[in-house]
Amino acid sequence: MSPTPAERQAELLRDAGQHLAGGGLGLFVLPDDLNLVIDRGEGARVWSVAGREYIDYHLSSGPALLGHAHPAITEAVEGRLSKGTTYYFLNEPEIELARRLADAVPCGDVVHYTGSGTEATFYALRIARAHTGRNKVLKFEGAWHGMHDYGLWGTVPSVPSNYPHARPDSVGVPAETGETVMVTPFNETAQAVDLINRHADEIAAVIVEPLQRVLLPEPGFLEAIREATLRHGIVLIFDEIVTGFRIAWGGAQERYGVIPDMACYGKAVSGGFPLAAIVGKREVMSVLDARSRPREQVVWATNTLNGNPVCAAAGCAALDVLSAPGVYDQLDRIGKRLRDGIVESGRRRGLPIQAPGENMVFGVRFTEREPLRTWQDLTTADKDLGWRWALECLRRGLLVNPNEKFYISIAHTEADIDHTLTLIDEAFAAI
Ligand SMILES: Cc1ncc(COP(=O)(O)O)c(C=O)c1O
Repeated sequence: MSPTPAERQAELLRDAGQHLAGGGLGLFVLPDDLNLVIDRGEGARVWSVAGREYIDYHLSSGPALLGHAHPAITEAVEGRLSKGTTYYFLNEPEIELARRLADAVPCGDVVHYTGSGTEATFYALRIARAHTGRNKVLKFEGAWHGMHDYGLWGTVPSVPSNYPHARPDSVGVPAETGETVMVTPFNETAQAVDLINRHADEIAAVIVEPLQRVLLPEPGFLEAIREATLRHGIVLIFDEIVTGFRIAWGGAQERYGVIPDMACYGKAVSGGFPLAAIVGKREVMSVLDARSRPREQVVWATNTLNGNPVCAAAGCAALDVLSAPGVYDQLDRIGKRLRDGIVESGRRRGLPIQAPGENMVFGVRFTEREPLRTWQDLTTADKDLGWRWALECLRRGLLVNPNEKFYISIAHTEADIDHTLTLIDEAFAAI
């Protein structure tokens, strides 16, 4: 007799526990009764192997900005599959997507593809070092730039760092790498500018998430970093892997009105396919150009699957959909309703709740600390309460990542938000 859907899911979870390192994909593990294996997604919903339907506010950690299985993306990908999936030579979708990215991104003259956001920030730092001839990089406390050894300093410290030194986030990151990474608090403008001024002749790049996880940049912060980096010939890198094509068509650069030298794109840029990109000014990116310099002076940043035609075709289709009139107004309106509704519902139940961020991507944090400006402010949030609330949301069919972000897609409707707010209110009542 074939297993029931619930039995099949239980079997798969047992296999995952045995065959996947850590039993899952990431840093959090759900309790057995809420753990799930996803069978399929469509629009704003996913269904588990056990047959349970969820409204998805995780969007695979951001890429599914168009919702799942958007017909434009499915069609574009299907149109490529029978032509082969990768060649390691130029192909039309890769050139077309580069043209569109360079058009859309305010700092964009040229594009370099990578496979993941991690590779994009990793190579962006290498490009900046090669361009400036300096070694150090400055990042902000609480910023997430992926899993490479230069990104994993001061990302989630529970106590303030000994600025500009920070602790590594992961075991296995060499202490020596940390000697080239400086860390300072986000939104502390004077402190950051002072550090840049004092170490200007050693700093190759300042890398910043313009919307740092869920923290908005205070007026003047990004402008001051831009001004200081320009003054000292330091490369300013915006990590737009979350914000790109999400908080505005022109990303954080358009939204906050500050233009960096390079920006890293991932997640939404390829409609859920594994492709990311560095988009930047020609002069800085010229260190990648073997046409204009001897090979020993070229930055190495190639990977086998970079710019492959299937992912690039998905990217072109995603940008077609996102460029339609009204898309960003709709994301903003739907996100605002959910965000305001969550705060209103939690406060009505007497909880100290805030939803920092932008309407398209925001956090839910249980803390009385206001305003939330820095990573250390965020550490005042009650993570245990956040975890318990997220589990109650999951129990009710809302797919959320505990203590992380809510992502809104163009597939979420007003009716989804109405239903979600009812479930959210029940989840608050349950904790
Ligand atoms: C701002 C930011 N930068 C970089 C990354 C790394 O991207 P990836 O997970 O594709 O390596 C992430 C991933 O969540 C991110 O949020």
